Amino acid sequence: MSLTADQTVDALRAAGEPTRLRLLSLLSGEELSVMEMSRILDQSQPRVSRHLKLMTDAGLIERFPDGARVYYRLSHDAQARRLIDTVLDILADDAGEADHRRLDEVRKEREEAAESYFEQVAPQWDRLRSLYISEAAVEAALERAVGPGPFERVVDLGTGSGRMLTLFGKRAKMSVGLDLSQNMLNIARANVSKAGLDKVELRHGDIFATRLPAGSADLVIVHQVLHYLADPSAAVAEAARLVCHEGRLVIVDFAPHDFEHMREAHQHRRLGFADGEINTWLVEAGLTPTAPIALPPDNEGLTVTIWTAERSAAQARKSA
Ligand SMILES: C[S@@+](CC[C@H](N)C(=O)[O-])C[C@H]1O[C@@H](n2cnc3c(N)ncnc32)[C@H](O)[C@@H]1O
Repeated sequence: MSLTADQTVDALRAAGEPTRLRLLSLLSGEELSVMEMSRILDQSQPRVSRHLKLMTDAGLIERFPDGARVYYRLSHDAQARRLIDTVLDILADDAGEADHRRLDEVRKEREEAAESYFEQVAPQWDRLRSLYISEAAVEAALERAVGPGPFERVVDLGTGSGRMLTLFGKRAKMSVGLDLSQNMLNIARANVSKAGLDKVELRHGDIFATRLPAGSADLVIVHQVLHYLADPSAAVAEAARLVCHEGRLVIVDFAPHDFEHMREAHQHRRLGFADGEINTWLVEAGLTPTAPIALPPDNEGLTVTIWTAERSAAQARKSA
């Protein structure tokens, strides 16, 4: 499908202003909040919001509320993306380069805050992780979603204290747990050895670039990690890349919620995820999602959702 002349002119008009081009360029890297963009551009939030509204109305970008914050990302529409990529491709601008340097600073601050949080909470993590959810119910549902196995190779991304490895490691010929925090990995090491598991590899690494081979795992788990990340869709794509023919990716995270204090107190970036959002990422990553499982809280806690997706033989051939 292509755009009509009117649609093209509308889209170009919406993008045709220096601040708006700078915003498009920033959003080509990752989804950002109005607050972050206003800080990077050094312009007021109402002013930035006005530019964003114009581009949202023209279908160039998408707005999505997350608790009390509003985030923006580039449109998923293929034609809009082609137009934006073409414009950004020919753009060479000093202001844009300075913006990306400031974006790097913002990103670095965010990552350092999250990393130092995990380094500090590592010893208490097993107590903290059960504060807002009924762990037993989640793990029983997870057992059903994962299936009986046995598995050739389980990969647990953002393994933390290694709980997923101790749950599923016994049914796997070998498992890999990957995490950015050395303190978390030390706790995982102790837990894995206490559980008597010897075929477990614990690696220091980043979920966005795992350096694990494509199609190398029949079970990939991302348990309570996505809500900390700046670009959760990129993490889903990397996790999906690891899934082999007839293998499975299981993501566990919160459904959308409004516990705004989780951002400050526990470094959450996103307040949960809608089924449609995760399923879109899974399909874009070449997997076939099955129906999500929602686990509501007993009383005041958060709803946890389990999203499962598989790679069919045809999909595996296509991505080979
Ligand atoms: C909330 S903990 C969950 C740990 C474990 N999956 C569980 O459910 O108990 C999130 C983990 O993700 C890790 N993490 C955060 N960002 C990461 C990244 N970019 N790459 C790898 N691990 C990351 C943190 O260090 C932390 O151990």
